[in-house]
Amino acid sequence: MTADHKPVRAASLSDATLQRFAKEVAKYPADQAQSAVMACLSIVQQEQGHVSLEAEKAIADYLGMAPIAVHEVTTFYNMYNQQPVGKFKLNVCTNLPCLLRDGGKALAHLEHKLGVKMGGTTADGMFTLQQSECLGACADSPVMLVNDRHMCSFMSDEKLDQLVDGLRASGGQA
Ligand code: FES
Repeated sequence: MTADHKPVRAASLSDATLQRFAKEVAKYPADQAQSAVMACLSIVQQEQGHVSLEAEKAIADYLGMAPIAVHEVTTFYNMYNQQPVGKFKLNVCTNLPCLLRDGGKALAHLEHKLGVKMGGTTADGMFTLQQSECLGACADSPVMLVNDRHMCSFMSDEKLDQLVDGLRASGGQA
C-alpha cells in the first residue's frame, strides 16, 4: 500500500465497524494500515461471531490488501472462526505433549458427552468442539480454551463433565 492510500468504503461493514477499524489503523504509520489486519478481524468476529470470506474481502478493501493476504491471517490463527460456531467454543489441545498426557482422551470424552465429532457443533447451537495448537501449558495437560479466552487445566473426565454441565446450565450467559 502506498502512503497516499485512502481506505475503501467496504459496503458490507457498518459505520460503527468502520469507526472501530479507523481507531486501530490510527495506531500505525499512515503507510502501514495493514498492520491493523488482526485487530480488524477480531472486531468483525466480535460483531458477527465469525469471519466470512465476504468480511475478509471487505477488510482487504479497507486496508488496501490482497484478499488472499487477509485469508492467510484468518487461516493461520485458529482463534478466528471461519464458520459460525456455538455459544461456547471448546478447544482441546492435542499437540504431541498433550496427546501423550490424555489430551486425546479429553477430546474423545467431550465428543461422547456432546454427541459431536471434533469440528462439530451441537444441534442446540450451544457448543462447538475443536482441536487446538499448543496453548503453552503442556505441564497442565489436558488443557483447553473456552471461547478463546478462558484456559482450563488438568481436565479430567469429571472436570470436563462439570464444565459442560455448568456452561449448559448457564444457558449461554457465561
Ligand atoms: Fe498442549 Fe502445549 S502441547 S499446551
